Amino acid sequence: MEKLVIEGGKRLTGRVSASGSKNAALPILAACLLAEGTSVIRNVPSLSDVEILLSILRELGCRVDRRPDGAIEIEVRDESNSRASYELVSRMRASVCVLGPLVGRRKTARVPIPGGCVIGVRPIDLHEKGLQQLGARMSLDRGDLVAEVPPSGLTGAEIFLGGPFGSSVTGTANVMMAAVYANGTTVIESAACEPEVVDLADLLVRMGARIEGIGSPRLTIHGVKTLRGAEHTIIPDRIEAGTFLAAAAITRGDVTVDGARGDHLRAAIHVLRETGMRVELGKNSVRAAHPDHPLRPVDLTTLPYPGFPTDLQAQFMAALCVADGISVVTEKIYPDRFMHVSELLRMGAELRKSGATVVVHGVPHIVGAPVRASDLRASAALVIAGCAAWGETEIRDIHHIDRGYERIEEKLNGLGAGIRRVNDASKPDPRPGAS
Ligand code: EPU
Repeated sequence: MEKLVIEGGKRLTGRVSASGSKNAALPILAACLLAEGTSVIRNVPSLSDVEILLSILRELGCRVDRRPDGAIEIEVRDESNSRASYELVSRMRASVCVLGPLVGRRKTARVPIPGGCVIGVRPIDLHEKGLQQLGARMSLDRGDLVAEVPPSGLTGAEIFLGGPFGSSVTGTANVMMAAVYANGTTVIESAACEPEVVDLADLLVRMGARIEGIGSPRLTIHGVKTLRGAEHTIIPDRIEAGTFLAAAAITRGDVTVDGARGDHLRAAIHVLRETGMRVELGKNSVRAAHPDHPLRPVDLTTLPYPGFPTDLQAQFMAALCVADGISVVTEKIYPDRFMHVSELLRMGAELRKSGATVVVHGVPHIVGAPVRASDLRASAALVIAGCAAWGETEIRDIHHIDRGYERIEEKLNGLGAGIRRVNDASKPDPRPGAS
C-alpha cells in the first residue's frame, strides 16, 4: 500500500495537460467488441480502471496491444465466451459497459451485477429495461445478469431511459451499443447527453453505425448488419481538468490546463467565475486565476450534463471551504456522495450536512491532517485540500485515486505542489470505490 504525503500551503501555478477521459475510454474500449477487424484507440489514459477493462476484453476473446505510441489496438479473435468474470467486474462497476456490446453482437451475455459502492446503491434497472425493450430476455442467475436474444435478433423500439435521478450515462451507452445491431430503428428518449456518451456515439458512427441526435436527449439509431474496426482519439478528461481548476481556486493559484475543452466545462467555469476566479478560454486550454480577494461563496447543485457534474462536487466543495461566506452544495445524482465531508472536517473545514445538502461555512484556511481516501473524487478533493492546507496532510488508501487520475502527484508537483508517494504499512479500507 502507498500513501500520499503533502506539504501544503503552496500556491499552484503553471500549465498542466489533461489526459484522455476515463469515463469515455471505458465504454469506447468495450465498443470494440462490436466491430470486425482491428480498432485503434488513442489518448487512452493509463489507469487501473482501464487495465481492468482491458483484462475483461482479453477474457472475452480480444487481442489487446498497447502500441509504442500509447494507442491501444483491439481485435476480436474469438467470440465463444460471453461471460465477464465476477473477479474482474467486482473490482470496477463500470465493467457493466460490456453488457450492451455482448447483447448486440454475440446475442448472449452473462455479466455479474456490479455491487453498490461507497457513493450509493447504483442500480442498473434502466440498462435491463432498455435491453428488454429491444427484445432481449433478461434473467438473474447467482448474481449474474443473463441476457438472451431470440434467433430473429433484437428489434428496434422506443425506449424511455429517464430514472429517478435523470438520465443514465452507462445505461444510455449500453442500450445504444446493443441497438446498433437491432432490426429497424430504436429511439432512446431521455438519453444522457454527457460528452463521454457523444464520444462513444462518434466512434460507433466511425465503425459504420447510423445514429442521429448525438448529444441530445433523443437518440435515433438505425440498425446495421456490420460494423468494422475504426480509429478514434478519446476526448480530454473534463473531470480531471475541472479538478486542476478547482486546485487553482483552493490554493489561490493560477493554472492553465492544456487540452481542456471549455465547451465541456461550462457549468464548472460558471461556478468558478461566480467565486471571483478569472477564467480564460484558450483555443485548446482553460486557465483559472485567483483574484486578489478571497473567493466568494456560491450555491451549486449537481445535475446531469450540461448541469454541474457530480464528479466535481467534492473538489469544488473543498475549494468553497476557504471562500468568504456560506455556500450550499446539493447533490442530485448520488444523494449519499459526501464521504469527503468527514475528512474535510478533520482538516478544519466547517461543514454541516443535512440530507443531500451540505452547508459550507468558509474559513480563512484549512490545516493538514491524516485522512483516508474513500472513493476517486473524494480522494481528489483531499489531494487539492492538502495542497492548500497549512502543514502536512497524509492521505491513505490512494489506490482510489489511481483509478481515475494519471500521475496525479507528478502533474500537481509540476504546478508547485509538494506531494510525495510513500509506502504505507496500514491496512486498506476493503470497500469498493466508485467508477
Ligand atoms: N440510475 C438508476 N438506474 C440505472 C442507472 C442509474 O437509477 O439503471 C441512477 C444512479 O443511481 C444515479 C443516476 O441514475 O443516481 C445516474 O447514474 P448513471 O447511470 O448516469 O451513472 P453511471 O453511468 O453508473 C457514470 C460515471 C460516474 C458518474 C456518473 C454520473 C462512468 C464509468 N462512470 O456512472 O463516474 O458519476 O456517470 O455522471 O462513466 C467517477 O468517474 O468518479 C464516477 C463515479
